Amino acid sequence: MKLLKVADYAEMSRQAADIIIKQVKEKPNAVLGLATGSTVLGVYRELAADHRQHGTSYRLVRTVNLDEYVGLGPDHPNSYRYYMNQHLFAQLDIPLHETHVPDGLAADLDEECRRYERLIDELGGIDLQLLGIGRNGHIGFNEPGTPFSTATHVVELTELTREANARFFPSLDDVPRYAITMGIATILRSRRIVLLASGEEKADAMARLLEGVVTPDLPASALHLHPDVTIIADCEALSLIP
Ligand code: F6R
Repeated sequence: MKLLKVADYAEMSRQAADIIIKQVKEKPNAVLGLATGSTVLGVYRELAADHRQHGTSYRLVRTVNLDEYVGLGPDHPNSYRYYMNQHLFAQLDIPLHETHVPDGLAADLDEECRRYERLIDELGGIDLQLLGIGRNGHIGFNEPGTPFSTATHVVELTELTREANARFFPSLDDVPRYAITMGIATILRSRRIVLLASGEEKADAMARLLEGVVTPDLPASALHLHPDVTIIADCEALSLIP
C-alpha cells in the first residue's frame, strides 16, 4: 500500500486525475471503476478540464460504477447514474452506452447483482478502481461487518451512512434504505486501486486503516490484501496519524 500525503483537496484531486489520465493514455480502452460522492468530484472536474484543454480521449474507455441506490432511476437527481452523467460523462467524449452503473430499478435485484458481476468479467475486469472512504471505513456501500468474500450485492445502509448522505436529499427520510454495491471481493479483483480521503471527518477511518489491522469491522482494511493500492490523502484526513 503506497501512501501519498498531499496538502489539500485540490492537490489530492490533481494527483488522482493524473493517475487516471496516465492509465487512459497507456490503455485507451481501459476499464475504469468509478465512485460518486464529494471526495471524487474534484477529480472529475480535473478530468473534464484536461479533456477540454488537452483533448485526452475517452472514446474507447469503459466504466463501471461501484454502487447505486435501490429505487432511484437515472432521472432522479440523487441517483448515482444522474451524478455520473452530470459530473463526468457529459464532460467527456465517452459513449454513454460504455458507462455502467448498477440498475437501482431492476425488478429482480439479485439477478441485477449477478448481471453486474458478469458484466465486469465480460469487460475483462477493472484496470483502475477509484474509491472514497466512509467515516465508518466503508468502501462502496460495504458497511462494517461485510465479509471480504462478497460479490456485488444488495445492502441495507447503516444510519451513519444515511445521515452522511442526507445532505444531498430534502430530508433523512428521503434517503433510500437499500443500495446495490460491488462487493469487497469485486473491488479486490481490480488490477489497481486508488483510494482518496480528504477532510477531518475521515481522519478516524484513515488512522484505523493505516494501523494495518485487517478486519471486516473496517471494510477498507481489505485493501491491505491487494498488491497495488495507492492512497492519496490530505493533511486533515491524516491528522490522527501519530
Ligand atoms: C460512492 C461510494 C462511497 C463513498 C464514500 C465517501 O460511490 O461508494 O463509498 O466513496 O461514502 O463519500 P464522500 O466522498 O461523499 O465522503
